[in-house]
Amino acid sequence: MNNFTYYNPTKMIFGKDTISQIGKQIKEQGINKVLLLYGKGSVIKNGVYDKVVESLKSSGVQHVDFSGVKPNPVLSTVKEAIKAMKDNSVEAILALGGGSVIDSAKAAAAGFYYEGDVWDLFERKAMVNKALPIFTVLTISATGSEMNSGGVITNEAENKKWSFGSPLLYPKVSIIDPTIQFTLPENQTVNGAVDTLSHVFELYFDGTRNTDMMDELSEGIIRTMMKHVKILLKDKENYESRCEFTWSSTLALNGMNGTGRVGDWSSHQIEHSLSAFYDISHGAGLAIVFPAWMKYVQHCHVEKFERFAERIFDIKEGSPEEKGIKAIEKLKEFYKEIGAPISLKEVEIPREDLNKLAENAALLSPIGSMKKLYKEDILKILELCYE
Ligand code: NZQ
Ligand code: ZN
Repeated sequence: MNNFTYYNPTKMIFGKDTISQIGKQIKEQGINKVLLLYGKGSVIKNGVYDKVVESLKSSGVQHVDFSGVKPNPVLSTVKEAIKAMKDNSVEAILALGGGSVIDSAKAAAAGFYYEGDVWDLFERKAMVNKALPIFTVLTISATGSEMNSGGVITNEAENKKWSFGSPLLYPKVSIIDPTIQFTLPENQTVNGAVDTLSHVFELYFDGTRNTDMMDELSEGIIRTMMKHVKILLKDKENYESRCEFTWSSTLALNGMNGTGRVGDWSSHQIEHSLSAFYDISHGAGLAIVFPAWMKYVQHCHVEKFERFAERIFDIKEGSPEEKGIKAIEKLKEFYKEIGAPISLKEVEIPREDLNKLAENAALLSPIGSMKKLYKEDILKILELCYE
């Protein structure tokens, strides 16, 4: 296990009928006016918006609406939100949504105080020195953004989907009411499951040795997620399964699961290039990229893939290498079963584009820790994505 510092200041309020607490939580921090940030309207349709506004009103917190954040959120929206925040002198941001809305809130919260172009924070030309407080009401579990300090935004003019982060960006308070996710379309539940599993994989398969305790935690999240996503695909309003799903998703990327490890993150980097060019869902892209990456790097940590095969898929026969190969195939079968795409063919990305994609993903190369990847490696992984 590596040395680590673990810090997570987000207060998490979890369970049925908890949304009505948001106004009081914000008021308790001495905040009187928030930017209410949301997406394309699911929160209006499913009643989350009304519940939140009622709670803000009864606590005496004013709000200014800003809607229209799109999935795979873009820089121009963040800049418009910053302008709205300045024009209306808000004191905090309340994000109603999933990763796209929360990440936009994080970028706007940091950009509010930064005098240059907010994209500098993504290019690492500047650090986040100050940020407005962020509150969230999570409506889709996938990214862990509700309880972590990172965000991902697409600079649409440059086709760069990049991340940034700062301890100043942990939400102050996040609310997860799993019943709100009853209205999720099936494919978004699947995306959330794949993203959650991928976060665990990035940490589990990073090449670090002697992480037994953390591996047990990771395997617990993997098993829980694989079990409950299947239940939810048959019974989307199963409250207990929504609870297991939503909390697994948060735990996968709230920092705890990364303690003692470094994290690999190259599959995420490669997927972000797919999303930057084709606007495909993050979860769908990961279902395609991760198994291909696993095949490419399996030889770097054969024992870990053997452990994964034994513990997750109960594969007992064969050499360590053979067990790992079988496990990767089983993972693809699982993705297929839940309706996630498993090949670039399925999402109609042409082979002629692979070079451009590899170049984009390699802009910050080398990437990864299990194996350091350069453009040529990324190209080979992308070719494996057609199998
Ligand atoms: O826009 P609306 O109308 O709200 O619809 C959304 C959106 O279309 C819909 N939705 C959300 N809650 C719903 C609902 N529909 C019905 N009922 C509900 N309760 O779902 C769609 C997807 O929303 P989005 O926020 O894009 O999903 P997700 O949470 O998966 O976020 C994905 C973004 O987060 C980034 C991804 O790259 C992607 O840009 N990530 C952020 C991370 C982080 N901050 O730590 C880490 C991740 O690895 C990831 O990169
Ligand atoms: Zn992810």
